[in-house]
Amino acid sequence: MIPARDSEYPDPDLSRRRVLRQRVLRWYARHRRVLPWRDVDNPYSIMVSEFMLQQTQVSRVLDHLPRWLERFPDLPALARASRRDVLLAWSGMGYNRRALQLHAAAQSIVAEFGGVLPSDPALLQQLPGFGRYTAHAVACFGHRRRLPLVEVNIRRVLSRLTTDMQSETRLLPEAETWRLAELLLPPRAFYDWNQALMDLGATICTARAPKCDRCPLQAECPSAHRLVPDTIRRSPAGVTAYNLVREVPRRIYRGRVVEFLRGAEGHCTSASRLHRVLFDIDGEEERARLLDILATLERDGMVRVTRRKKPVEVRNCVAPLAELRVCLTE
Ligand code: ADE
Repeated sequence: MIPARDSEYPDPDLSRRRVLRQRVLRWYARHRRVLPWRDVDNPYSIMVSEFMLQQTQVSRVLDHLPRWLERFPDLPALARASRRDVLLAWSGMGYNRRALQLHAAAQSIVAEFGGVLPSDPALLQQLPGFGRYTAHAVACFGHRRRLPLVEVNIRRVLSRLTTDMQSETRLLPEAETWRLAELLLPPRAFYDWNQALMDLGATICTARAPKCDRCPLQAECPSAHRLVPDTIRRSPAGVTAYNLVREVPRRIYRGRVVEFLRGAEGHCTSASRLHRVLFDIDGEEERARLLDILATLERDGMVRVTRRKKPVEVRNCVAPLAELRVCLTE
């Protein structure tokens, strides 16, 4: 039993749920995007595509997925690969930690489940890199388990569809959206429903300038044609937060180090070379920053740092950078 929420908008009743499902599924039948991870009976490739789709554009995943599946065609092949090979194959995808989590998940599945990807979302959620969304997506799309899904697109669609959101940026709390996703999930066509909501969010019910006049739910949606752009971040002079000079986040530097090592001879280089690649200024602050970046990359198992063949304690290291050798993990 799903408890009702305390809101001026009651939960959709059975007949309204039927109307919403019918409209969405009819729209999906006509307008669905053709994507290679749809209607595929291969839980492993579903798992890979879901990892890739976390924070990476669909167009980029379309490019990378076939190459990945050629290189690592099944779970045992991925589990056997070295971390270096996995990081090399992940090139161009960003967020390298996801690649290592995917690799670690494949190794756990081989070690704990004999190489068979579980269909139980509770088991999946214990694997590296799996949150609730990824566990449900793999179980639903890979094993046809009837499970609700909430990711950024679905959260936006369900928020607007059940409450008058008024502003383009407003969303219901995540827990509330999970509850609604469960309530609205069709008894049978759950697979298409979940895929359809993602398409609706990606193409019609977009974060900015939603195309309500083309939406199959416009007659049902309390937010339709009423969403105004978010003005909070804009000052009267038109200066947005994006115009402010910001420090380059550590994540960007980490990505640059790994990308440089992908192309370096033997996938190794000196820390002084990295210092030159990363920073225009040759100062103490930049040196400390580099050591900090290398320490976190080493902690995450992406690089190995040695001094004259011996491992070093990277953070606060006093050795000259030229003596520190940095290699992509093996
Ligand atoms: N984003 C994450 N998973 C997706 C899927 N299965 N289809 C479209 N976009 C997605």
